[in-house]
Amino acid sequence: MINKAPIGVFDSGVGGLTVVKEIMNQIPGETIIYFGDTARLPYGSKSKKTVITYTRQIVRFLMNNNVKAIVIACNTASALALETVKSEVDIPIIGVVKPGAKVAASTTRNGRIGVIGTEGTIQSGIYSEILSKTNPKVEVFGKACPLFVPLVEEGLLDDPVTFEMVKRYTSEILDKQIDTLVLGCTHYPLLRKTIGKVVGEDIVLVNPAYETAKVLSEVLTDKGLRNDANPKLNHKFYVSDGAEKFRQFANTILPCEVMETKDINIEELG
Ligand code: DGL
Repeated sequence: MINKAPIGVFDSGVGGLTVVKEIMNQIPGETIIYFGDTARLPYGSKSKKTVITYTRQIVRFLMNNNVKAIVIACNTASALALETVKSEVDIPIIGVVKPGAKVAASTTRNGRIGVIGTEGTIQSGIYSEILSKTNPKVEVFGKACPLFVPLVEEGLLDDPVTFEMVKRYTSEILDKQIDTLVLGCTHYPLLRKTIGKVVGEDIVLVNPAYETAKVLSEVLTDKGLRNDANPKLNHKFYVSDGAEKFRQFANTILPCEVMETKDINIEELG
C-alpha cells in the first residue's frame, strides 16, 4: 500500500538530520530513508550545475527505494536544484527554503531579517526573492558562512573556534538592526547555542526544519499518503563516505537509535 512507503530525505551531510528530527517528532508513523552525501560535501561552494547533477542522482536513488515523497533537507540544493528536479518526478518534493522564509516573514516585527547560509544559498538570492514577494517592505541581509559546515561535520558545535567564527560572520548583519535571523543551512541549527550566545536574546533565530516537517505533513494528508500507524519503523541511513562517523553523530541528534548506516556509491547506484 502506497501510504506505507518511506519518505526520502537528503542533504550533503549530517545537517539534514535536523529536519529528520522534526519529521520524526511531528509525524512519528512515517519511515525515513536518509542519504547524506558526505563524500561530496560541501555543496555550498559548488556550482548550480553540479548541485543539480548531485540532486538528480540522489532523487533517482531514493525513487529506486520506492519513496512516496522527498524532502530536500538542504538549503543549497533547495535553492539551486528544487525547481529543476520537481518537474522531472511525479511524487511530491519539498524544499526547506520556502517554509523557512514563511516563518521569518511572520516572525519579524521591524521588517529587518538576516539570513545566514552557504555561498550557494546566499548568492542565489532566494530568501530575499521569496521574502519580498511575501512582504515588499521587508529588508533582507544575507551573509555566507562557508566555515560553519566543516565545523559542524567535525562536531565542534560549542567550541571557542566556532564562537569566534560566529562573531566574525555575524558582525556585519548585526549592525543592520535585524530582529530575526534565519538559519539558512540545515547544519546551522546544530550551532544554535553558540549563535544564540553571540547574537543575544533579542534576535529570534528561525530554524526552517519545524515548518518544513509541517508542510510535509500537510502534503501527505492532502494527497492521501499519510501513514499514522506504522508499528514497525525501519528507518534507513545511507552516506557516500564515513558511515560509522555519521552513525555516531546521528545518534546524538535523533530521537531514535541509529543501529546501522551504509556506505553506497551514489554515482553508480543513482
Ligand atoms: N546543509 C546544507 C544546506 O542546508 C549544505 C551544506 C553544504 O554542504 O555546504 O545548505
